[in-house]
Amino acid sequence: AIARVRAEHDVRVWPAPDPPPRPDLLAGAREADGLLCLLTDRIDTELLDASPGLRVVSNMAVGVDNIDLAACAARGIPVGNTPGVLTEATADLAFALLLAAARRLPEGIAAVRDGTWGPWDPAWLLGLELNGAVLGIVGKGRIGQAVARRAQAFGMEVIHTGRSDGGLPLTELLRRADVVSIHCPLTEQTRGLISTEAFALMKPSAILVNTARGPIVDQDALGEALRSGQIAAAALDVTDPEPLPPSDPLLGAPNLIVLPHLGSATRATRAKMAGLAADNLLAGLAGTPLPHAVSA
Ligand code: DGY
Repeated sequence: AIARVRAEHDVRVWPAPDPPPRPDLLAGAREADGLLCLLTDRIDTELLDASPGLRVVSNMAVGVDNIDLAACAARGIPVGNTPGVLTEATADLAFALLLAAARRLPEGIAAVRDGTWGPWDPAWLLGLELNGAVLGIVGKGRIGQAVARRAQAFGMEVIHTGRSDGGLPLTELLRRADVVSIHCPLTEQTRGLISTEAFALMKPSAILVNTARGPIVDQDALGEALRSGQIAAAALDVTDPEPLPPSDPLLGAPNLIVLPHLGSATRATRAKMAGLAADNLLAGLAGTPLPHAVSA
């Protein structure tokens, strides 16, 4: 993807695997006409003010919570993202987390390795049977729908939020679901959506899966809900912050699986994301509409 951009433009690539520290990002963007950024780069008024020539921002992610969309719109700078191509990979990972938590894979794997695997026991490591269980999808966009398709193949009953298309209020969904899976974008409305009050509505046997954005879940409340048995388990691909330090108190909570934001991490999907990000960047630099533009 970078080679395609390089064929037409002078390209500067941040050389380190870690995201550029803020001063380097600001300095690097100062002269730029276009920016191809990752979800770890904060694109805000400070950066936009410091980059007067900027004509396009292309995010190599579908989520755009790292970008101040209103500030870009106010300056007439189009913003692009990478929808669609990561739907199936992210839904796969959400379902892998769901299965791992429902069938208690981490405990089983640990028992084999640490020698606590005893004789076959009819009452040991019993989990949730997916067939007939209720999956609550919070945010029935592309990824939510892809997870729903997988759940239906496993015999689950699927309910979702969003009253405009026959969905339930969140409170009702939380009361009914055996598994709650988060698929909404992070916005000011969804920040802290899964709070102490939300956990209080969930079944004590319920499992929470989050593959969307960490701050949608109040992590202190989640730790407390797991420790007190308010819910049975949680499986997260996203946290707040990322990376989550090994010393974070959340990691001491029981029945918790945490992955390091791997939802779209397949070779095929990441290549497609890079391709779309390059398409958006090239279109913006050419002054033509972005193939995948995000509106503020
Ligand atoms: C996204 O695209 O928003 C994911 O979080 C990373 O693929």
